[in-house]
Amino acid sequence: MRVEGPETKIARDLLAHYDVHARRLPWRAPPGTNAADPYRVWLSEVMLQQTTVAAVGPYFARFTERWPDVAALAAADDADLMAAWAGLGYYARARNLLACARAVARDHGGRFPDTEAGLRALPGVGAYTAAAVAAIAFGRRAVVVDANVERVVARLFAIATPLPAARPAIRDAADRITPDARAGDFAQAMMDLGATVCTPRNPACGICPLRSDCAAFATADPAIFPVRPAKRAKPHRTGHGWWIERDGHVWLVRRPDTGLLGGMRGLPSSDWGDAPDATPPVAADWRTLADPVRHVFTHFSLSLTMHHAHVGDDVTPDGAGEWWPVARIGDAGLPTLFARAAQAVRREQDARN
Ligand code: ADE
Repeated sequence: MRVEGPETKIARDLLAHYDVHARRLPWRAPPGTNAADPYRVWLSEVMLQQTTVAAVGPYFARFTERWPDVAALAAADDADLMAAWAGLGYYARARNLLACARAVARDHGGRFPDTEAGLRALPGVGAYTAAAVAAIAFGRRAVVVDANVERVVARLFAIATPLPAARPAIRDAADRITPDARAGDFAQAMMDLGATVCTPRNPACGICPLRSDCAAFATADPAIFPVRPAKRAKPHRTGHGWWIERDGHVWLVRRPDTGLLGGMRGLPSSDWGDAPDATPPVAADWRTLADPVRHVFTHFSLSLTMHHAHVGDDVTPDGAGEWWPVARIGDAGLPTLFARAAQAVRREQDARN
Protein backbone atom coordinates (compact mmCIF):
# COMPACT_ATOMS: atom_id res chain seq x y z
CA MET A 1 0.00 0.00 0.00
CA ARG A 2 1.25 3.47 -0.85
CA VAL A 3 1.27 5.67 2.22
CA GLU A 4 0.13 9.22 1.57
CA GLY A 5 2.85 11.78 2.30
CA PRO A 6 2.10 15.14 3.89
CA GLU A 7 2.55 16.89 0.52
CA THR A 8 -0.17 14.83 -1.17
CA LYS A 9 -2.47 15.35 1.78
CA ILE A 10 -2.12 19.13 1.49
CA ALA A 11 -3.26 19.09 -2.15
CA ARG A 12 -6.11 16.71 -1.40
CA ASP A 13 -7.42 18.71 1.57
CA LEU A 14 -7.08 21.98 -0.28
CA LEU A 15 -8.86 20.77 -3.43
CA ALA A 16 -11.71 19.33 -1.35
CA HIS A 17 -12.08 22.74 0.28
CA TYR A 18 -11.92 24.48 -3.13
CA ASP A 19 -14.68 22.24 -4.52
CA VAL A 20 -17.01 23.80 -1.94
CA HIS A 21 -15.59 27.29 -1.41
CA ALA A 22 -14.08 28.40 -4.75
CA ARG A 23 -14.80 32.05 -5.42
CA ARG A 24 -16.98 32.48 -8.48
CA LEU A 25 -14.94 34.82 -10.67
CA PRO A 26 -15.78 35.84 -14.24
CA TRP A 27 -12.65 34.32 -15.79
CA ARG A 28 -12.94 31.03 -13.94
CA ALA A 29 -14.30 27.65 -14.91
CA PRO A 30 -16.09 25.87 -12.04
CA PRO A 31 -13.83 23.57 -9.96
CA GLY A 32 -12.93 20.33 -11.71
CA THR A 33 -14.15 21.32 -15.20
CA ASN A 34 -10.95 22.58 -16.83
CA ALA A 35 -12.89 24.58 -19.42
CA ALA A 36 -11.51 28.07 -18.89
CA ASP A 37 -10.99 30.23 -22.00
CA PRO A 38 -7.21 30.87 -22.38
CA TYR A 39 -7.82 34.45 -23.56
CA ARG A 40 -9.85 35.30 -20.47
CA VAL A 41 -7.41 33.51 -18.16
CA TRP A 42 -4.43 35.34 -19.66
CA LEU A 43 -6.21 38.72 -19.58
CA SER A 44 -7.27 38.25 -15.95
CA GLU A 45 -3.80 37.15 -14.87
CA VAL A 46 -2.18 40.21 -16.43
CA MET A 47 -4.79 42.49 -14.85
CA LEU A 48 -4.50 40.81 -11.45
CA GLN A 49 -0.77 41.38 -11.11
CA GLN A 50 -0.39 44.09 -8.46
CA THR A 51 -4.14 44.71 -8.46
CA THR A 52 -6.99 43.27 -6.37
CA VAL A 53 -9.78 41.02 -7.62
CA ALA A 54 -12.30 43.74 -6.65
CA ALA A 55 -10.52 46.45 -8.66
CA VAL A 56 -10.07 44.19 -11.70
CA GLY A 57 -13.74 43.09 -11.94
CA PRO A 58 -15.18 46.09 -13.85
CA TYR A 59 -12.11 46.39 -16.12
CA PHE A 60 -12.32 42.70 -17.01
CA ALA A 61 -16.02 43.09 -17.86
CA ARG A 62 -15.41 46.15 -20.07
CA PHE A 63 -12.41 44.60 -21.85
CA THR A 64 -14.13 41.31 -22.65
CA GLU A 65 -17.26 43.12 -23.83
CA ARG A 66 -15.29 45.39 -26.13
CA TRP A 67 -12.61 42.88 -27.17
CA PRO A 68 -14.19 39.42 -26.79
CA ASP A 69 -11.24 37.43 -28.09
CA VAL A 70 -7.53 37.74 -28.72
CA ALA A 71 -8.02 38.64 -32.40
CA ALA A 72 -10.23 41.57 -31.43
CA LEU A 73 -7.70 42.75 -28.87
CA ALA A 74 -4.85 42.39 -31.37
CA ALA A 75 -6.74 44.75 -33.70
CA ALA A 76 -7.31 47.37 -30.98
CA ASP A 77 -5.96 50.86 -31.40
CA ASP A 78 -3.02 51.48 -29.02
CA ALA A 79 -4.48 54.70 -27.64
CA ASP A 80 -7.92 53.12 -27.07
CA LEU A 81 -6.35 50.28 -25.16
CA MET A 82 -4.20 52.56 -23.00
CA ALA A 83 -7.26 54.70 -22.22
CA ALA A 84 -9.32 51.62 -21.29
CA TRP A 85 -6.53 50.53 -18.95
CA ALA A 86 -6.36 53.94 -17.22
CA GLY A 87 -6.69 53.60 -13.46
CA LEU A 88 -5.34 50.03 -13.26
CA GLY A 89 -1.75 51.27 -12.93
CA TYR A 90 1.54 49.67 -13.96
CA TYR A 91 0.96 50.74 -17.53
CA ALA A 92 3.76 48.66 -19.03
CA ARG A 93 1.33 45.78 -18.53
CA ALA A 94 -1.09 47.35 -21.02
CA ARG A 95 1.59 47.82 -23.67
CA ASN A 96 2.75 44.24 -23.16
CA LEU A 97 -0.83 43.02 -23.34
CA LEU A 98 -1.20 44.46 -26.81
CA ALA A 99 2.20 43.16 -27.97
CA CYS A 100 1.27 39.69 -26.72
CA ALA A 101 -2.19 39.69 -28.32
CA ARG A 102 -0.64 40.71 -31.65
CA ALA A 103 2.00 37.96 -31.40
CA VAL A 104 -0.68 35.33 -30.67
CA ALA A 105 -2.80 36.57 -33.59
CA ARG A 106 0.11 36.86 -36.02
CA ASP A 107 2.40 33.96 -35.08
CA HIS A 108 0.03 31.42 -33.52
CA GLY A 109 -3.13 31.66 -35.60
CA GLY A 110 -4.99 33.30 -32.73
CA ARG A 111 -4.48 30.39 -30.32
CA PHE A 112 -2.40 30.68 -27.19
CA PRO A 113 0.47 28.16 -26.92
CA ASP A 114 -0.62 25.45 -24.46
CA THR A 115 2.65 24.86 -22.61
CA GLU A 116 4.46 26.89 -20.02
CA ALA A 117 7.55 27.22 -22.27
CA GLY A 118 5.46 28.26 -25.28
CA LEU A 119 3.64 30.89 -23.24
CA ARG A 120 6.86 32.18 -21.71
CA ALA A 121 8.17 32.94 -25.19
CA LEU A 122 5.35 35.45 -25.83
CA PRO A 123 6.22 39.13 -25.42
CA GLY A 124 5.58 40.43 -21.91
CA VAL A 125 4.69 37.02 -20.48
CA GLY A 126 6.83 36.39 -17.41
CA ALA A 127 7.40 33.23 -15.41
CA TYR A 128 4.36 33.80 -13.20
CA THR A 129 1.89 34.44 -16.04
CA ALA A 130 3.18 31.53 -18.12
CA ALA A 131 2.77 29.14 -15.17
CA ALA A 132 -0.66 30.50 -14.24
CA VAL A 133 -2.07 30.28 -17.78
CA ALA A 134 -0.52 26.84 -18.44
CA ALA A 135 -2.10 25.49 -15.26
CA ILE A 136 -5.46 27.30 -15.23
CA ALA A 137 -6.28 27.35 -18.95
CA PHE A 138 -4.57 24.13 -20.06
CA GLY A 139 -4.45 21.95 -16.94
CA ARG A 140 -0.66 21.63 -17.18
CA ARG A 141 1.26 20.93 -14.03
CA ALA A 142 3.02 24.24 -13.30
CA VAL A 143 4.20 25.86 -10.09
CA VAL A 144 2.25 29.08 -9.68
CA VAL A 145 3.53 31.45 -7.01
CA ASP A 146 1.95 34.87 -6.58
CA ALA A 147 2.01 36.95 -3.37
CA ASN A 148 -0.92 35.03 -1.85
CA VAL A 149 0.63 31.65 -2.61
CA GLU A 150 3.97 32.88 -1.29
CA ARG A 151 2.35 33.71 2.04
CA VAL A 152 0.47 30.40 2.31
CA VAL A 153 3.58 28.36 1.52
CA ALA A 154 5.86 30.37 3.83
CA ARG A 155 3.39 29.62 6.63
CA LEU A 156 2.78 25.94 5.81
CA PHE A 157 6.52 25.32 6.09
CA ALA A 158 7.33 28.12 8.59
CA ILE A 159 10.07 29.41 6.29
CA ALA A 160 11.97 31.81 8.49
CA THR A 161 14.35 33.34 5.93
CA PRO A 162 13.23 36.92 5.19
CA LEU A 163 11.93 37.87 1.74
CA PRO A 164 13.18 38.16 -0.92
CA ALA A 165 15.94 35.65 -0.05
CA ALA A 166 13.24 33.11 0.90
CA ARG A 167 11.82 32.98 -2.63
CA PRO A 168 13.77 29.95 -3.93
CA ALA A 169 12.86 27.92 -0.83
CA ILE A 170 9.22 28.98 -1.15
CA ARG A 171 9.17 27.97 -4.79
CA ASP A 172 10.72 24.56 -4.01
CA ALA A 173 8.14 23.96 -1.30
CA ALA A 174 5.31 25.04 -3.66
CA ASP A 175 6.68 22.60 -6.24
CA ARG A 176 6.59 19.76 -3.70
CA ILE A 177 2.91 20.28 -2.88
CA THR A 178 1.68 20.92 -6.45
CA PRO A 179 -0.28 17.87 -7.68
CA ASP A 180 0.00 16.38 -11.18
CA ALA A 181 -3.74 16.54 -11.70
CA ARG A 182 -5.88 19.67 -11.30
CA ALA A 183 -2.85 21.97 -11.13
CA GLY A 184 -4.99 24.94 -12.23
CA ASP A 185 -7.58 24.35 -9.52
CA PHE A 186 -4.78 23.84 -7.03
CA ALA A 187 -3.15 27.17 -7.96
CA GLN A 188 -6.43 29.03 -7.69
CA ALA A 189 -7.29 27.23 -4.45
CA MET A 190 -4.00 28.47 -2.98
CA MET A 191 -4.79 32.01 -4.19
CA ASP A 192 -8.28 31.86 -2.68
CA LEU A 193 -6.95 30.53 0.60
CA GLY A 194 -4.46 33.41 0.73
CA ALA A 195 -7.12 35.97 -0.13
CA THR A 196 -9.87 34.77 2.20
CA VAL A 197 -8.39 32.62 5.03
CA CYS A 198 -4.60 32.87 5.20
CA THR A 199 -4.72 36.68 5.06
CA PRO A 200 -1.71 38.90 5.77
CA ARG A 201 -2.97 39.98 9.19
CA ASN A 202 -5.22 37.95 11.49
CA PRO A 203 -5.35 34.74 9.43
CA ALA A 204 -8.50 32.71 10.09
CA CYS A 205 -6.66 29.54 11.16
CA GLY A 206 -9.79 28.26 12.89
CA ILE A 207 -11.46 27.58 9.53
CA CYS A 208 -8.34 26.65 7.52
CA PRO A 209 -8.43 23.26 5.80
CA LEU A 210 -4.61 23.02 6.04
CA ARG A 211 -4.32 23.81 9.74
CA SER A 212 -3.21 20.32 10.73
CA ASP A 213 -0.34 20.44 8.21
CA CYS A 214 0.72 24.02 8.92
CA ALA A 215 4.03 24.56 10.69
CA ALA A 216 3.21 28.22 11.33
CA PHE A 217 -0.10 27.29 12.99
CA ALA A 218 1.95 25.33 15.50
CA THR A 219 3.87 28.51 16.44
CA ALA A 220 2.69 31.35 18.67
CA ASP A 221 2.20 33.80 15.80
CA PRO A 222 1.52 32.36 12.32
CA ALA A 223 1.16 35.87 10.87
CA ILE A 224 4.90 36.61 11.19
CA PHE A 225 5.45 34.44 8.07
CA PRO A 226 6.59 35.31 5.46
CA VAL A 227 9.26 37.27 7.29
CA ARG A 228 9.48 40.78 5.85
CA PRO A 229 12.78 42.55 5.32
CA ALA A 230 13.29 45.77 7.30
CA LYS A 231 11.38 48.45 5.44
CA ARG A 232 13.21 51.38 3.92
CA ALA A 233 11.29 54.64 3.68
CA LYS A 234 10.28 55.56 0.13
CA PRO A 235 11.99 58.60 -1.29
CA HIS A 236 9.81 61.63 -1.81
CA ARG A 237 9.76 63.68 -5.00
CA THR A 238 8.07 66.91 -5.98
CA GLY A 239 6.89 68.20 -9.33
CA HIS A 240 4.75 70.80 -11.06
CA GLY A 241 1.75 70.22 -13.31
CA TRP A 242 -0.07 72.67 -15.54
CA TRP A 243 -3.75 72.89 -16.42
CA ILE A 244 -3.85 75.04 -19.55
CA GLU A 245 -7.42 75.84 -20.52
CA ARG A 246 -8.56 77.43 -23.76
CA ASP A 247 -12.20 77.87 -24.76
CA GLY A 248 -13.54 74.89 -22.77
CA HIS A 249 -10.58 72.64 -23.66
CA VAL A 250 -7.53 71.57 -21.69
CA TRP A 251 -4.07 70.80 -23.13
CA LEU A 252 -3.15 67.12 -22.78
CA VAL A 253 0.13 65.50 -23.77
CA ARG A 254 1.02 61.87 -24.37
CA ARG A 255 3.82 60.68 -22.12
CA PRO A 256 6.87 59.03 -23.68
CA ASP A 257 6.42 55.27 -24.22
CA THR A 258 9.20 54.37 -21.84
CA GLY A 259 9.24 55.41 -18.21
CA LEU A 260 6.57 55.99 -15.64
CA LEU A 261 2.97 56.14 -16.95
CA GLY A 262 4.56 55.53 -20.36
CA GLY A 263 2.25 55.97 -23.36
CA MET A 264 -0.56 57.42 -21.22
CA ARG A 265 -2.26 60.77 -21.68
CA GLY A 266 -1.37 63.28 -19.01
CA LEU A 267 -1.28 66.94 -18.06
CA PRO A 268 1.97 68.69 -18.93
CA SER A 269 4.34 68.40 -15.98
CA SER A 270 7.90 69.11 -14.93
CA ASP A 271 10.41 66.42 -14.14
CA TRP A 272 9.83 64.88 -10.70
CA GLY A 273 12.70 65.15 -8.25
CA ASP A 274 14.23 67.24 -5.50
CA ALA A 275 14.26 70.56 -7.32
CA PRO A 276 12.00 70.37 -10.37
CA ASP A 277 11.98 73.11 -12.96
CA ALA A 278 8.90 75.26 -12.28
CA THR A 279 8.96 77.12 -15.60
CA PRO A 280 5.44 76.88 -17.07
CA PRO A 281 4.98 75.66 -20.67
CA VAL A 282 3.34 78.98 -21.70
CA ALA A 283 3.23 82.48 -20.31
CA ALA A 284 -0.12 83.09 -18.60
CA ASP A 285 -1.71 84.45 -15.47
CA TRP A 286 -1.08 81.33 -13.38
CA ARG A 287 -2.86 80.40 -10.16
CA THR A 288 -1.45 77.69 -7.93
CA LEU A 289 -3.46 75.23 -5.84
CA ALA A 290 -2.67 75.53 -2.14
CA ASP A 291 -2.41 71.75 -1.61
CA PRO A 292 -0.25 69.60 -3.87
CA VAL A 293 -1.77 66.40 -5.24
CA ARG A 294 -0.13 63.46 -3.51
CA HIS A 295 0.38 60.08 -5.10
CA VAL A 296 2.33 56.99 -4.08
CA PHE A 297 4.16 55.08 -6.80
CA THR A 298 6.00 51.80 -6.26
CA HIS A 299 9.39 53.36 -5.69
CA PHE A 300 8.63 56.90 -4.49
CA SER A 301 5.89 59.22 -3.36
CA LEU A 302 5.10 62.41 -5.24
CA SER A 303 3.68 65.83 -4.38
CA LEU A 304 2.53 67.48 -7.57
CA THR A 305 1.89 71.22 -7.29
CA MET A 306 -0.83 72.15 -9.76
CA HIS A 307 -1.00 75.46 -11.60
CA HIS A 308 -3.94 76.53 -13.73
CA ALA A 309 -4.62 79.32 -16.21
CA HIS A 310 -6.86 80.28 -19.11
CA VAL A 311 -5.10 81.28 -22.32
CA GLY A 312 -6.20 83.08 -25.45
CA ASP A 313 -7.28 81.41 -28.72
CA ASP A 314 -3.92 82.11 -30.32
CA VAL A 315 -1.88 80.27 -27.68
CA THR A 316 -0.70 76.68 -28.18
CA PRO A 317 2.07 75.17 -26.05
CA ASP A 318 5.19 73.89 -27.79
CA GLY A 319 5.44 70.19 -28.56
CA ALA A 320 2.89 67.50 -29.30
CA GLY A 321 -0.46 67.55 -27.51
CA GLU A 322 -4.17 67.98 -28.01
CA TRP A 323 -6.94 70.28 -26.80
CA TRP A 324 -9.35 68.00 -24.97
CA PRO A 325 -12.91 69.09 -24.05
CA VAL A 326 -12.98 69.77 -20.31
CA ALA A 327 -16.55 68.42 -20.09
CA ARG A 328 -15.27 65.04 -21.35
CA ILE A 329 -12.10 64.86 -19.24
CA GLY A 330 -13.41 61.64 -17.68
CA ASP A 331 -13.07 59.93 -21.10
CA ALA A 332 -9.44 60.93 -21.67
CA GLY A 333 -8.07 57.82 -19.99
CA LEU A 334 -5.94 59.79 -17.55
CA PRO A 335 -3.96 57.70 -15.08
CA THR A 336 -5.00 58.18 -11.46
CA LEU A 337 -2.43 60.88 -10.62
CA PHE A 338 -3.59 63.17 -13.42
CA ALA A 339 -7.28 62.34 -12.97
CA ARG A 340 -6.95 63.51 -9.38
CA ALA A 341 -4.98 66.60 -10.39
CA ALA A 342 -7.72 67.49 -12.90
CA GLN A 343 -10.36 67.02 -10.21
CA ALA A 344 -8.48 69.26 -7.79
CA VAL A 345 -8.19 72.06 -10.36
CA ARG A 346 -11.83 71.84 -11.37
CA ARG A 347 -12.95 71.86 -7.73
CA GLU A 348 -10.93 75.05 -7.16
CA GLN A 349 -12.34 76.64 -10.33
CA ASP A 350 -15.89 75.78 -9.27
CA ALA A 351 -15.28 77.28 -5.84
CA ARG A 352 -14.16 80.54 -7.47
CA ASN A 353 -17.18 80.80 -9.79
N1 ADE B 1 -4.97 36.41 -8.46
C1 ADE B 1 -4.25 36.19 -9.57
N2 ADE B 1 -4.82 35.25 -10.33
C2 ADE B 1 -5.95 34.87 -9.71
C3 ADE B 1 -6.96 33.94 -10.00
N3 ADE B 1 -6.90 33.22 -11.10
N4 ADE B 1 -7.95 33.81 -9.11
C4 ADE B 1 -7.97 34.57 -8.01
N5 ADE B 1 -7.06 35.44 -7.67
C5 ADE B 1 -6.05 35.62 -8.51
